[in-house]
Amino acid sequence: MEEILVHGGRPLFGKLEMPTAKNSILPILAAAVLTRDAVCIHRAPFLQDVETSMQLLAALGCPAVRAGQDLLLSCDGPVGDTVPRPLMAAMRSSIYYLAPMLVRAGRARLSFPGGCRLGARPIDIHLEGLTAMGARVTARGDLLECDAPHGLHGVRFHLRFPSVGATETLMMAAAAARGETVLTGAAREPEIRDLANFLNACGGRVTGAGSSKIVIRGGRLHGCAYTPIPDRITAQTVLCAGAACGGEILLERVPFEPIRPMARLLTQAGCRLRRLDHDRVELVSDGRLTALGTLSTGVYPAFATDAGPLLAAAMLTARGTTRLRETIFTNRFGCAKEFARMGADLDCRGNLLSIRGVPALRGARVEAGDLRGGAALVIAALAAQGESRISGVEYIRRGYEDIGEMFGALGAAIGRSAQPERETTAAGR
Ligand code: EPZ
Repeated sequence: MEEILVHGGRPLFGKLEMPTAKNSILPILAAAVLTRDAVCIHRAPFLQDVETSMQLLAALGCPAVRAGQDLLLSCDGPVGDTVPRPLMAAMRSSIYYLAPMLVRAGRARLSFPGGCRLGARPIDIHLEGLTAMGARVTARGDLLECDAPHGLHGVRFHLRFPSVGATETLMMAAAAARGETVLTGAAREPEIRDLANFLNACGGRVTGAGSSKIVIRGGRLHGCAYTPIPDRITAQTVLCAGAACGGEILLERVPFEPIRPMARLLTQAGCRLRRLDHDRVELVSDGRLTALGTLSTGVYPAFATDAGPLLAAAMLTARGTTRLRETIFTNRFGCAKEFARMGADLDCRGNLLSIRGVPALRGARVEAGDLRGGAALVIAALAAQGESRISGVEYIRRGYEDIGEMFGALGAAIGRSAQPERETTAAGR
């Protein structure tokens, strides 16, 4: 079993350029299935979820070929109508292929998507919107059988919750549907705008993305070459690590607007953050932070749910108490019990995490149970005194190319260790 090995307690110094956003390239890879023409995606990160997407694309008859940092796709042949169960279970983003399969194959058979265990993650809004556009959905156990016997048509549809994934599903369906679609109550994340920009680069007619009202006029899409936006959550991961460990970090390829809530909180905690120009941010911290009182996550442009565990890790040694309320998922703080193994003083009641800062954390053996919780454990280990071993690396690799290399470039003592297989007992445990 592989582990991340950290000798913590060092400040972080240096410069990093942010990679392409996982939550942008994943829906864009699915949207590439909407056209028969060639698509080239630049600066494609080497993430587990991108690898899973490539396996899923191949299973649909749309192989993606990697050429260095570029991914080349051309879905010019017949597109499959079934996603193998293991590929649906591997990530939440597998649901993004439902709309393209309905558009290209006229039907889709898939099980419910997997992904980080953040609580219930239904797809009812995806299905409700597609049904309004002319799809038929039949659930047989955990298998969904969908078809669109008369194709998909435009609709006025209000999302009861600004779901990121459902907004993206409906944008993809609408881009190839007959007529005009108006989505209200849409998610406003930067990744929504990026998907719209990709669709428009393919000849789509999407306006209003980034606001809660998006208008899409359907039509035929052609190929394009596209570079998705940088990863705002990776940027916030590095900023929280710098805040907790102390040091001086320059981040490049970081648009400031998407990280403004985090920048404001880290400044309030005692860091100095400077926006050097349109996409460079500098953080300076002495590692001695002040707690933030009560705050909550929310839908974009509020403080992002994905950033909650990252900030919590930085607050573990802040002076005073921080109370962080999660408002999007019901199980966002799975990492809290692992923080406690490192000597953190906290309690987690449902979606409220209360942290009383301690003078120092101590290295420990901890286990990641989801992507951002795993990244938060790395942050805590970097700030802790002594050695930590972090298992559950497979979760972290879903969203970070090589988190050890990333922090190693800032002077952290971090690496991977292939822990010898545990001796199985007579009982086979
Ligand atoms: C996207 O997940 C991101 N994933 C998540 O990032 C992110 O945390 C989340 O948006 C919120 O910002 C990707 O983009 C690949 P949602 P998604 O649909 O689309 C409920 C990471 O760490 N809901 O906005 O699954 C749902 O249960 C990941 O990178 C319904 O009820 O999020 C949840 O409570 C984790 N019905 C809330 O909406 C639906 O049909 C937000 O979900 C869909 C969602």
